Order: sequence, then C-alpha cells, then structure tokens
Amino acid sequence: MANKKSIYILAIESSCDDTSVAVLLNDKVLSNIVANQDIHSQYGGGVAELVSKANQQNIVPVVHQALTIAGIDKKDLNAIAFTKGPGLLGSLLVGTSFAKSMALALDVPLISVNHMQAHILAHFIESDSQDKPTFPFLCLTISGGHTQIVRITDYFSMEIIGETIDDAVGEAFDKSAKILGLSYPGGPLIDKYAQLGNPTVFEFTHPKTKHKLDFSFSGLKTSILYFIQKKMKENPHFIKENLPDICASIQHTIVAILMNKLVLASKQTGLKQIAIAGGVSANSGIRGAMAEAEKKHGWKTFIPKFEYTTDNAAMIGIVGYYKYLDKIFEDISVTAKARMKLN
Ligand code: KG4
Ligand code: ZN
Repeated sequence: MANKKSIYILAIESSCDDTSVAVLLNDKVLSNIVANQDIHSQYGGGVAELVSKANQQNIVPVVHQALTIAGIDKKDLNAIAFTKGPGLLGSLLVGTSFAKSMALALDVPLISVNHMQAHILAHFIESDSQDKPTFPFLCLTISGGHTQIVRITDYFSMEIIGETIDDAVGEAFDKSAKILGLSYPGGPLIDKYAQLGNPTVFEFTHPKTKHKLDFSFSGLKTSILYFIQKKMKENPHFIKENLPDICASIQHTIVAILMNKLVLASKQTGLKQIAIAGGVSANSGIRGAMAEAEKKHGWKTFIPKFEYTTDNAAMIGIVGYYKYLDKIFEDISVTAKARMKLN
C-alpha cells in the first residue's frame, strides 16, 4: 500500500434515481451531495428514461456543489471514482461518461466501483462515533435491487452465502406500500406508519426456500395483496382504519425473515461481527432487531449512519480510496454494466 498522504477523491454515483457526488480526503467525507428525483414518486417507479435524463441534468451542478462544499479545487483531485454497476444502464452511463471525461481532463486515475461492494464498504468511512468492522465479518445487504448475506474477508474479497431467489426486500416494502396506496418509494412510509402500530395484529407467512440462507419475498407480497383485497371487500375503509397496524405487521414479518436468516448465517459461519447495509438498513425495525440480537447472541453489530444507507457517493468514494491505495485503476475504455457480480 502507498504511504498515507492526503488523497482527494471525487466520487460519482448514478446507478438509479439519484445523482450523488462526494469528495473524500482519504477515508474522511468532506462533502456528500444527493440530488433526489421526484420522477419515481410521480410515476410510481421504473421510468428509466426519465431517470437517466434527470441524472444528466443534475450531474454538472452536483459535481460543482460537492467541490464547493468540500472547499477544494478540481485541480487538487487525485482520482475520480464512479459506479460502474449494477444499476439502470441509462443512469450508469451518465456517471461513467462524466467520470471518464473528468479523469481525462485532469489527467488523474479513473477508479470503477461496484455499487454493492460500496454499500458494504461504507462501514469503513471515517467516523468519530462508530467502530469499523474487522475481517472477517458478515453483512446483510438490503436494498431496492438486492438482498444478500455476504461474508467479507478483505476489502475486495466477498462471498455471497445467501440471496433472494426473487424480489429484493426493498421491493417487498415498496410493493406492499403500493398495495396500500402509499407513494414510491414506500419503504420509508411503511416504516413511519409501523412506528405508530401494533406489529402482532396481522400475521403473514414466512416463505420457504430450498437453500436455508436464501430469501424469497414474492410469495409474501402476494399473500399481502390477497389479504388486503379480502379485507377491503368486507370493509372498504379497512386500509384507512388500520394503516399503522398493517404497516407494523408487514414490517415485523419482513424483519423477522431477515433476522432468522442472519442468525442462521452467524451460526453456520461462526462469525459474530454482523453488519447491515443498503437502503433498507435505514429501517427502524431492522435497526431495533440488530440491537436486540447484539445482546441476545453476543454479536458486535455495525449499523451505517442514515446518510450512508440509501444510495450515496460517499460509499463510492471510500471504495475509491482503498482502490487508490492498491493502485487498482480503470482503463479509459471502461463501460458501465447493468448487471455485475459482487466480486
Ligand atoms: O440502497 P438503495 O437506496 O437503492 C438501491 O441500491 O436499490 O435502496 C432503496 C430501497 C427502496 O426500496 C426503499 O423503499 C428502501 O430502500 N428503504 C426503506 C427505508 N428507507 C429506504 N425500506 C424500509 N424502511 C426504510 N426506512
Ligand atoms: Zn444501492
């Protein structure tokens, strides 16, 4: 590894709806700007073409703002890091093209980052208030596109030991919210109402999977849909009258499914350092369950700060920093990849 000097990295994340740019000094975040889009909430998600257009409109002002808040000039940058994949191709291309042009113009190295590795390595961002995991550890990566239990043995050595065979857990939250007439993304709204409700009022089944550490959420979504349809036939005001209890019960079920698998993974691997990462790790239910598990199972848990749970460029920057130290640079001919394995 190179000796520790002051390394400034500008990182770009544009894998999905949001455009985010961060500036890091070594492992410390100087700025982390996220330009959210309301396109998804207007259209209910999945309008890839509109999303990538908004990324294109946002990228220049967001880069400018990230540099301004960090208080540095672009000439001070040592490298440009960007999300190569996985994600929506149109959106990824915006960040990829911009990063390539910027690296070329500044004559600095270009660093490509795997979005799912970045969610996990966000735990290594410098923080006064939080410890960092040591290798090896387990991470439950829960987002809108992925649900994985990963065994991490080094910064770039990760093995998926369990994953969803159908929907991601974020989708389970968002699709349940849609059934309830809530706007997109529904995960945070289910969380909000769940905190006002009783989690044991309604019961939903835990889907079974052939491989014990895998997840399945499509059956759960269907059972919630049938349950709501039946109840609404009996009483058209059912959702309105019971929203907090419905949300609390859905969240309780999802969290129980996640935690059961995580406990099993910890037993199977013998690992007791357990992290969570990704957008769904913002959920109050999973955070509470992790705190309980820490006491019950003697775990040391790692919960990311809120700003590093949902998609953000700081997590791309921290991967950029470790790749910079190892001189893992990318050729200027690199292209974005919608599908990408973890390693
Ligand atoms: O990691 P992320 O920002 O994007 C992807 O890489 O997919 O995750 C987005 C997902 C969405 O499904 C959103 O509903 C969910 O994270 N989410 C939550 C919460 N905050 C975000 N789900 C449940 N509770 C939350 N508080
Ligand atoms: Zn993500």
